Amino acid sequence: MTTAEQNHTLTRTGPGTPMGTLFRRYWIPALMGSELPEPDGPPVRVQLLSEKLLAFRDSDGKLALIDEFCAHRRVSLWFGRVEQSGIRCPYHGWKYDASGQCTELPSEPDDSPLRLQVKLKAYPCVERGGIVWTYMGPPEQQPPLPEYEWAMVPDAHRYISKRIQESNYLQGMEGGIDSSHVSWLHSGELKTDKLHVGTDGARHIANQRPSFELQKTAAGLAISAKREVDAAQSYWRVTQWLMPWYTIIPPYGENAIRGHAWVPIDDENCTTWNWAHHPARPLTADEVDAMAKEEGAFAQLIPGSFRSVANKDNDYLIDRAAQKSGRYFSGVKGIAMQDASLQESMGPIVERELEFLVATDVAIVRARRRLLDAAAALAAGEPPPGIEPAAQHVRSASFVGPTKLSFEAFESALQVRAGAGPTSI
Ligand code: FES
Ligand SMILES: [Fe+2]
Repeated sequence: MTTAEQNHTLTRTGPGTPMGTLFRRYWIPALMGSELPEPDGPPVRVQLLSEKLLAFRDSDGKLALIDEFCAHRRVSLWFGRVEQSGIRCPYHGWKYDASGQCTELPSEPDDSPLRLQVKLKAYPCVERGGIVWTYMGPPEQQPPLPEYEWAMVPDAHRYISKRIQESNYLQGMEGGIDSSHVSWLHSGELKTDKLHVGTDGARHIANQRPSFELQKTAAGLAISAKREVDAAQSYWRVTQWLMPWYTIIPPYGENAIRGHAWVPIDDENCTTWNWAHHPARPLTADEVDAMAKEEGAFAQLIPGSFRSVANKDNDYLIDRAAQKSGRYFSGVKGIAMQDASLQESMGPIVERELEFLVATDVAIVRARRRLLDAAAALAAGEPPPGIEPAAQHVRSASFVGPTKLSFEAFESALQVRAGAGPTSI
């Protein structure tokens, strides 16, 4: 059982909190590169771990992520002008470069030393895999750049999107490692969704009584959900959970591998990142089309925003007739919104001390424990798990194999093998 105190520690990620301090030691997906399409384009508000920031691309194409508010009288620099290697506050014209340094303070004489004292908070940025990543921790502790497979494959092998979720990051992430709900909540999609339909995996996952085996990995957990196929064989689905918030979902058949990240905006909202990548081939036009139409796992968004069309203000457009017929088990359309509707229905921060956990929740329990342990170990001077690239070179897998199988027997299927496709049925 998770106590109220543990829940508080797990879910608060602002500056100075134990979990916030841990998360600031990783490279963090901040925004999509496509949100800043050109030098000197409009800035973008970015809130991460309860810090309000502003991203822009300066005249040289250099990425900047700085405090959203002007040092002078704290207006939002989102109203500012990105011009000539910096952003200028529209109120009194102070200007800042990508490092947050004030480069012009027009009300003062040109040689005034005052300007040099004015520097906004700024975090380093790097663009990789269609994402602008940032590092918000102590500069001397900056880890190597992220090398998750989905961020490293050629662009044509990957599709990526993001959506605002109105809940704490943890209840989103816990949905991502809860393999048992797929047989219920997403049962309609197993027969219709393009990324599932017709595969052996979609057939086997209809079995609603999985059992779980967990293996601690360098970056997190390998979570095996087993569903009986016959007296000796099981359908294995091995999901990877990587610290601090990534899940890699086992693929179905020849389809791409999908995955998510749940990145805290503040304690009551998070960004749900969705991606699909195929290590061995470009995504087909058909696949990209299905994802671009925001079907299934990729929710349809309100144009010009990252909020989904189906949201809590319209009860996620629940269709009670489709619920009754089983077309959509919960009546909500699409895997993404089926998950989000239920995760948001728990309230902004679920009261975990009121839960009644059972055996199929073992991965959730272990992930919470790993997060709490990692935060405590960090405070004692140990490095965070999973910041080393080698720990990130892992995949998910799905296969039919003996019900009794040691982790070592399939460990190689979980490793990134350059150019080779995933182990998947
Ligand atoms: S508030 Fe920004 S220059 Fe005055
Ligand atoms: Fe789900």
